[in-house]
Amino acid sequence: MTITPDAVRVFAPAKINLFLHVGDKRADGFHALQSLVVFAGAGDELTFELADGISLVLEGLFAGVLSADTDNLVLKAARALASRSACEQGARITLTKNLPVASGIGGGSADAAASLRGLARLWDLDVSQDLLHEIGAILGSDIPVCIASVPAWMEGRGETVTAVNVPGAAMVLVNPGVAVPTGKVFAALKERRGVGMPLPPIMKSVPELIAYLKTTTNDLEAPAREIAPVIGEVLDTLATQQGVMLARMSGSGATCFSLFESDAAANNAAAKISKQNPGWWVAATAA
Ligand code: C5P
Repeated sequence: MTITPDAVRVFAPAKINLFLHVGDKRADGFHALQSLVVFAGAGDELTFELADGISLVLEGLFAGVLSADTDNLVLKAARALASRSACEQGARITLTKNLPVASGIGGGSADAAASLRGLARLWDLDVSQDLLHEIGAILGSDIPVCIASVPAWMEGRGETVTAVNVPGAAMVLVNPGVAVPTGKVFAALKERRGVGMPLPPIMKSVPELIAYLKTTTNDLEAPAREIAPVIGEVLDTLATQQGVMLARMSGSGATCFSLFESDAAANNAAAKISKQNPGWWVAATAA
């Protein structure tokens, strides 16, 4: 289908949890979290065109595993924004799904956040960033941090977001093709670090960032590995590449990332991993 030249285009970058500590379960059933989040160069793409009613068209590598029904987070976000801003305009949304789904890199949340940003522009709404945050927080824990999509310190259930500076680094993302439901991973959690970390110090170089990250963990890695043991294989593969500085799982998995000392090292590792594991989704990127 052709997209009109005046369509609004929005990029929905993959969200990477450089670390993720889990605290107690709160009264609302969600766990308290602390996480340092960055956004990758890899992501989904969305376009928004004025239309009658709100509809969604899916395209791209991972479009087949999603359905464009009313449960889709992009549509839920669109409807919530229309209702909160009393907007009666419609939109035809096209989502090019480049990121694996249910994979710990916020694909659905990034898309929902992009939907809020894109429609606010398309419909020319006078809505604050705070209102977009508020709508996003109702729909999913990872959506608020994806509204601005800048490096952030995330707390609460995910609704408290503080922008921070994080040195950019070359990165490889690997997903082994298993969908790991977030709720199931939280339910299998046994050991957790708690949420007592202060805000991160100012870090000016990648080695400083790595030293800091080595004092942290992803608490969801152990339960996710129990549910999907292939995650252990992905982490071992990433950790043994030349030039790798850190290999870790993002979010509730199964996507893992590694940080590299150079773009060349990341590109080489991605090419090698891809060749050896043709069923895995592999992306060399930066964050
Ligand atoms: O908010 P979201 O829909 O992403 O959460 C999916 C599931 O993950 C929740 O139903 C809950 O079981 C778990 N979760 C949690 N604590 C959080 C975020 C998610 O327990 N802070």
